[in-house]
Amino acid sequence: MSKTNDTTRAIFTTRIGAVATAVGSAVGLGNIWRFPFEAGSHGGGAFMACYLVFIIALGIPVICAEFILGRHTRSNEPRAFRTLAPGTPWHLVGYIGILASILILSFYSVVAGWTLEYLTASFSMFTNDMDTADYHTRFGQFISGNWRPVIWTVTFLAINFLILLRGVQKGIERLSNILMPVMFLLLVIFCVNSLLMPKASEGLYFLFHPDFSQITPSVLLGAMGQAFFSLSIGLGCMMTYGSYFSPRTNLLRCASVTAILDTGVAILAGIIIFPAVFSFGISPESGPTLVFEVFPTIFSQLHGGMFWSILFFFLLFLASLTSTISMSEISITYFMEEYRLSRLRATMLTIGIATMLGLLCALSFGPLRHFTVCGMTIFNLFDYLSSNILLPLGGMLISIFAGWIIDKHIISTQLSESPASHPSRWIRPVIFCLRYVAPVGIALIFMNSIGII
Ligand code: PFF
Repeated sequence: MSKTNDTTRAIFTTRIGAVATAVGSAVGLGNIWRFPFEAGSHGGGAFMACYLVFIIALGIPVICAEFILGRHTRSNEPRAFRTLAPGTPWHLVGYIGILASILILSFYSVVAGWTLEYLTASFSMFTNDMDTADYHTRFGQFISGNWRPVIWTVTFLAINFLILLRGVQKGIERLSNILMPVMFLLLVIFCVNSLLMPKASEGLYFLFHPDFSQITPSVLLGAMGQAFFSLSIGLGCMMTYGSYFSPRTNLLRCASVTAILDTGVAILAGIIIFPAVFSFGISPESGPTLVFEVFPTIFSQLHGGMFWSILFFFLLFLASLTSTISMSEISITYFMEEYRLSRLRATMLTIGIATMLGLLCALSFGPLRHFTVCGMTIFNLFDYLSSNILLPLGGMLISIFAGWIIDKHIISTQLSESPASHPSRWIRPVIFCLRYVAPVGIALIFMNSIGII
C-alpha cells in the first residue's frame, strides 16, 4: 500500500492486495457460521438454488457498482453520493450503510467471541466421554451465561480496536494474504472427512437437491439477505475498499474472484456440515448454534481433535477479524473525513457504540432472552434487520444510482480502465443487471415477503 500524490488516501498497490482484502472482507462467519444455519432452516437445496442465482444476478453487479463508486470518488460512502449527485437526498443511502455496519459489527462480534471461547476450550473439551448431546448442552450453558459471552465479545472488539488503530495498511493486507489459503486447505480436509461419514449422501442430497415447491417468500428473502451479507455488499464496505484500489485494478475480475471464492467457501462449509448433521442426528434447523455444535462433534471423532479444533477456531477467528475490520472501516472513514476526527477518536467511537450494542446481543441468549421485538431477540433482530432489510435496500439503491443516475461513461471507463483482454463484453450485462435485474428483483422480493404480491 502506498500514498497517492493527489490525495491523502492510501491505495492498494498490488492486484493481489486488492483481491485479497476484498476476499478477506467477504469470507468470514457469514460463510462458515451463517450460511449453513440459514440453508438448514430454509429447506437446504431450495435455499441453495436461490442463493446461487442471487450471487450471480445481484451480487456481482452490486460489488462492481460499489467498486466503481468508491474508486471514482475516492471517498467515504455518503460523500461519494454527495460528490456524484450534489444537492439530492442520495447521500442518505450512505447512512443506511453506516447503520447496517454498526448493527452487524455488534452481533458479529458476539459470534466471533464464541470462536474465542471454543479456541480456548479446545484444550480441555475433547474427552472420550463427550457426545453430540454433551456438546449441545455445553454450548447452551455457555451462551446463556451472564459473563463469558460478554467477556469474549468485549475481548474480540478490543482486539479489533488495536488492529484498526494501526491503519488499513498492515493489519488488513498482511492478515488476509496469509490467512485465506490456509483456511481453504483446512476446509478441504474437513470436507473429505465429512464425505466419508455414514450419512454423507443424505447431507449432500439435502443441500444440493432443490425442491422448488419449497421456495417461499421467507426462503427468497433469507437467500437474498445471505448473498448480500456474505459478499459484504449493500452497505458501502466494498465502496470503501474500492476507494483504496489502484487505477490499474481490474474491477470486474476482482468482483468475480471475490464472489467465486466466497461462494466456494460457503459451499465447502455446507459440505462439511450437512453430512455431519445427518450422521450425528442433529436437526438442520438448529439455528445460530448449529455450527458450534457440529464442529466440536466432528473434531471429537478425528485423530488429534484438539489440534484440528485449535487450528480451525483460530482461523475462523482471524477470518472474522478481517471481516469486522472491513465493516468498522465504513464508519471510521466516515467519522474521520466528515467530522475531522483523528483515527483514534473515530475508532473509539465506532468500537464504543458496537460494544454497547454488542453487550445487548451477547446477553440475548441468556438474561435478555425474553426481551423480544416482533418475536425476535435483540441478536436475531439486529441480524434480520441488517441482513434481510438494510443490505438489500442499500444494494437496490446503489444499483439504481449506478445504473440510472450517474453518467454511464463513469461505469464504462471504470470497468475498462484495466488491462483485461475483453473488458467491453461484460460492461453491457453489468449495466443491464444494475438498471433492471437488481432493482426490480430486490423490489419484487421485498413486496413478496410483506405479502403485496
Ligand atoms: N461478509 C462477511 C462474512 O460473510 O462473514 C460479513 C460482512 C463483512 C458483512 C463486512 C458486511 C460487511 F461490511
